[in-house]
Amino acid sequence: MKLLRIDSSARSSSVTRQLTAKFVEEWKKNHPAGEVIQRDLATTVLPQITDHWAGAHLEPSQLTPAQRNYLATSDHLIEELQAADTIVIGAPMYNFAIPSSLKAWIDQIVRMGKTIGYGPSGARGLLANKRVIIVTARGGAYGKGSPAEKFDFQEPYLRHIFGFIGLPDVTFVHAENQAREEAGPRLAAVAEEIRHLAVEQSQQVAH
Ligand SMILES: Cc1cc2nc3c(=O)[nH]c(=O)nc-3n(C[C@H](O)[C@H](O)[C@H](O)COP(=O)(O)O)c2cc1C
Repeated sequence: MKLLRIDSSARSSSVTRQLTAKFVEEWKKNHPAGEVIQRDLATTVLPQITDHWAGAHLEPSQLTPAQRNYLATSDHLIEELQAADTIVIGAPMYNFAIPSSLKAWIDQIVRMGKTIGYGPSGARGLLANKRVIIVTARGGAYGKGSPAEKFDFQEPYLRHIFGFIGLPDVTFVHAENQAREEAGPRLAAVAEEIRHLAVEQSQQVAH
């Protein structure tokens, strides 16, 4: 079993990092022989989409050396994703959306011929059978029915993009109100939620 852990907070002692670390710790207890792949987007500087991306859907033999060199990062990140059974992502809310580092990772892994294909009925995701757990942290609260719900450009986007590449099984855990008095108790409750998720997930795999 393989777990891919992705962190995208700029802060080393961040809330989302504490929570993805907690998930890994619990997952390891249940998968002692499992492998954890870590991708820290605060220290891995990913390329932006450039003109070389025009070759992203081509066979390696059709690429120029410069395109091949540019696409090597995307190839590697997609291999990490394809190898994983479970993906846990730490996604702080920045300006009502995701950090640009996480968007840069998404831009590298959503790739025609590798994670998306086109058929008679349009686009279809080429990945399958992976569980995605996304842990967010937010200064405020954007829950269902709240006045700020409409400003949550994080969960709807992430749900859509993972579904687009064939991974509709996405669970969100939100550590909200991190800029407010209730930050501590909320964090403790979310850590417990994460522990349950890791256990529940290993039970699903065992059946
Ligand atoms: C650049 C930046 C932008 C932020 N934008 C928002 C925002 O739009 N809404 C919000 O509720 N919190 C916002 N916050 C607060 C963070 O979401 C909060 O501090 C969260 O704990 C960050 O996750 P981390 O602890 O994993 O780094 C922002 C923080 C930063 C640094």
